[in-house]
Amino acid sequence: MVFATSSTRVFVCRENRAGEQFLTKLLEVSDLTVNFNTERGTIYALDRINLALDTGEVLALVGESGSGKTTLGRAILNIIPSPAGEIKEGRILFQGKNILEMEESECNLLVRGKTITLIPQDPFGSANPLFTIGTQLKDLLKASGLHEKEMKERITTLLSQLQLPADTGLLRKYPHELSGGQLQRVMIAASLLPNPSLIIADEPTTSLDVTVEAQILLLLRRLVKERQVSVLYITHNLAVASQVSHRITVLYAGQVMESAPTNLFFKKTAHPYSKKLLQCLPNSKGEIRDIGGSVPSLIHPPEGCRFHPRCEEAHTRCRQEKPKMIELELGHWVSCHDQTRKKGREP
Ligand SMILES: Nc1ncnc2c1ncn2[C@@H]1O[C@H](COP(=O)(O)OP(=O)(O)O)[C@@H](O)[C@H]1O
Ligand code: SF4
Ligand SMILES: [Mg+2]
Repeated sequence: MVFATSSTRVFVCRENRAGEQFLTKLLEVSDLTVNFNTERGTIYALDRINLALDTGEVLALVGESGSGKTTLGRAILNIIPSPAGEIKEGRILFQGKNILEMEESECNLLVRGKTITLIPQDPFGSANPLFTIGTQLKDLLKASGLHEKEMKERITTLLSQLQLPADTGLLRKYPHELSGGQLQRVMIAASLLPNPSLIIADEPTTSLDVTVEAQILLLLRRLVKERQVSVLYITHNLAVASQVSHRITVLYAGQVMESAPTNLFFKKTAHPYSKKLLQCLPNSKGEIRDIGGSVPSLIHPPEGCRFHPRCEEAHTRCRQEKPKMIELELGHWVSCHDQTRKKGREP
């Protein structure tokens, strides 16, 4: 039952088995499993992923290249490239409704680019080179019922919040006439224009220099606070995650290794992979250590804990049995046999 609405948000109230009513999370991903069927064999890209996001929460999804971060972002929009990609199992509840059970037309009308928007990694690869910035932004408001003047006002206000004054002729320019930082800010504007409840930001600052990156992170933080929008922030960089997120979830070879509120994650890092990622942060002299090895082929992912070939703590059980996800303390989850044993849950 929908019990409260505002122009941007819908809160959904459900009943549990005991008949008690409770608020659902904005997004709940359960047991999400995604494969890609390729000529080389099946790539087991995501293996029973669980995560959840509250309204106004920024969740940083962290992991090396090939961990499955982009695949997870796409699965949430149900846009896994087909025919190779296949969602084998799982549920993606958004505002209480399973996106994977929606008709394509319903998903296009209500979800994609509307209540959930995407900031892509490469702004030049995503903006249409044939149309001006103004045309592309106005297109996003076509279904809003706003008049031409109102649309322009809304666009120019948002652009000026993003430090892109429209009176510089920006709306008449084509994407190639902008710098990477300017175009990425236009992409952020495009992701905010429909007033979404959730933004999926897939490594949005990776192609930018550090000064522009810092500006964009600051902007995102401010917009999240002002608009109470939720963000799934995909990055391979823990330092960036620490600046933007309320919670960090670490993905490795298609499995969640650890998930915790950001402060707790840095204070009480529990998973050997997370610890390695932390060791790779630049030290005070700017030196970066290499984590050693690489993400395994997901055509033949390692049995048991997928991290075992690179883990210095690995033992026999790790090679045979996938560790269960356990809660170490409120909101701090980890998947590691050693942690389960220390917690007294296993011999
Ligand atoms: N369209 C695709 N076709 C085949 N394999 C894919 C496709 N997209 C992703 N993969 C595979 O899925 C795995 C996860 O990739 P991806 O989600 O891009 O990881 P990340 O974003 O963390 O770098 C990789 O092994 C990658 O090769
Ligand atoms: S389960 Fe074993 S291999 Fe995996 S992280 Fe823990 S100790 Fe290492
Ligand atoms: Mg990616």
